[in-house]
Amino acid sequence: MNTLLIINSSPRSNSVSRRLTRHLAEEWKAKHPDTRVLERDLTAEALPFVTEPWIQASYTPPAQRTPQQQQALALSDALIDELMMADVIVLGVPMHNFSIPAPLKAWFDLVARVGKTFSYGDEGPKGLIASDKRVVAIVSRGGVYDDGSASASSDFQVPYLRHMLRFLGLEDMTVIAADKQGFGAEAAQQSVDRAIRKLSALAEHFPSPTAVAA
Ligand SMILES: Cc1cc2nc3c(=O)[nH]c(=O)nc-3n(C[C@H](O)[C@H](O)[C@H](O)COP(=O)(O)O)c2cc1C
Repeated sequence: MNTLLIINSSPRSNSVSRRLTRHLAEEWKAKHPDTRVLERDLTAEALPFVTEPWIQASYTPPAQRTPQQQQALALSDALIDELMMADVIVLGVPMHNFSIPAPLKAWFDLVARVGKTFSYGDEGPKGLIASDKRVVAIVSRGGVYDDGSASASSDFQVPYLRHMLRFLGLEDMTVIAADKQGFGAEAAQQSVDRAIRKLSALAEHFPSPTAVAA
């Protein structure tokens, strides 16, 4: 049985990215009924920021950790286990101030763990999460940030996602964008409709999702 993990990070109930992650989950379930769908809503629970005790615990070898240090890492362990269990990871990511929402940044900080999800060696950093997992990043934004557009250099959202996921070992990321959400109702809806068509194709053609990225 495959596991699809959905990670939502929009604070809005009428959210575009939530609507799109829900659409993908429904289509995926319909096409692949043996899929287990898990959801982690990063706005339903306030994730803690990393603290000094957390950092000390994460750099202490597991066998030497005190019960307090094990406790400090418990949520991070649970989030990493969830990630390791997933075959497909679907990120719902609104653009906030040219980057990702703060709860998703807090999530990345908790799942980036030395010796567990990344390591450093002679050849630099190495991601430790199995690279055969697929990531679908559904991004929603007010403006347009396509390559070659006037705002492309202001996009700290998709490049950050790509960089962090690669850092953890996840090389296969497909981006589906619903842009122009601030360009009036018609342009916004057209962009959502286009994203919905791409997501339906992606669910249909799994396991070749990168084919619909263009
Ligand atoms: C706090 C906040 C910051 C935003 N910053 C940007 C931004 O920097 N660039 C942009 O194009 N849109 C920005 N937007 C617009 C959102 O990206 C857009 O409304 C998107 O649809 C939000 O996704 P959601 O509907 O899933 O919440 C911002 C919206 C909010 C609420």
